[in-house]
Amino acid sequence: MAFSGSGKIWMNGALVDWADAKIHIASHVIHYGSAVFEGARCYATPRGSACFRLDAHMRRLYDSAKIYRMTPVLSEDALTDAVLETIRANEYKACYIRPIVYRGYEELGVNPFPCPVDTAILTWEWGAYLGDDAVKRGADVRVSSWSRAALNTFPTLAKSSANYANSQLIKMEAIAEGYSEGIALDTQGNLSEGSGQNLFVVRDGVIYTPPSAAAILPGITRDTVITLARDLGFTVREDMLPRELLYIADEAFFVGTAAEITPIRSVDKITIGSGERPVTEALRRAFFDVISGEVPDRHNWLTFVYPGEPLEPVSTTATATSAR
Ligand SMILES: Cc1ncc(COP(=O)(O)O)c(C=O)c1O
Repeated sequence: MAFSGSGKIWMNGALVDWADAKIHIASHVIHYGSAVFEGARCYATPRGSACFRLDAHMRRLYDSAKIYRMTPVLSEDALTDAVLETIRANEYKACYIRPIVYRGYEELGVNPFPCPVDTAILTWEWGAYLGDDAVKRGADVRVSSWSRAALNTFPTLAKSSANYANSQLIKMEAIAEGYSEGIALDTQGNLSEGSGQNLFVVRDGVIYTPPSAAAILPGITRDTVITLARDLGFTVREDMLPRELLYIADEAFFVGTAAEITPIRSVDKITIGSGERPVTEALRRAFFDVISGEVPDRHNWLTFVYPGEPLEPVSTTATATSAR
């Protein structure tokens, strides 16, 4: 989805016009992928605009920075305030949020230490990541010929720009061969994740998802879905999973901030299950109830953006749609 090209971007403390948010071509990040970033969403709810799990995203950003020995100039709390300020400056009711901490302009050796640690916050309106059709019918995906990073190579707990070289290979291969997404295995052959989403598989009513040790980015949506599934009474297992579990799954779906919860219709041209998706649908309902503010925010996942919001509380008698 193309950018509108308007609005403000926060750069090192200043709100600048979208068209003027530029960095020098000699910046370290451009040559060596030396950046860590986040992707969060702000939703329009009946009680006002609310960022979903902003604290968890900011924590992961600072964890990613720590792994890469970067110290952002602002504290986590101050940068969280800057995110809210940026949304307000753009007057968005709903948007995608992309804070990025990157090594800037000073010199171009591999050693990043001489370069400043710069920060920017972009916000824009972004719809269904895998397309509306994938959301409705399910995505057709393939198992990628590319693996996720081997242990002790590229740290996958860090949401680092460098990791997205691997994601791009997975995504391009899938698109070039007519699929909407790829599922990568880890270097041992266990199921890992999509190019930018975590993976869930359902078999006989039990929900499975690969663990952190399977070279995944431990997603905040993944954690949300695990929490909601357990709230609904499902058993969730975080386990090393063989590739072929996908082919015999009753249901499979991707989760992520951009993809939200997107069903998978087929893998390697093998149709998943019968096409019925009761578990995926129950989780999608529970997830959308929370992000749309339709049910009380029991887990404190919403951060309201504008002064005077949240508006009137939703009825405390409302409950999440039950799965069963
Ligand atoms: C590689 C990868 N895995 C998983 C996810 C899902 O993470 P989250 O739910 O925190 O967006 C993302 C999202 O950015 C990702 O890029």
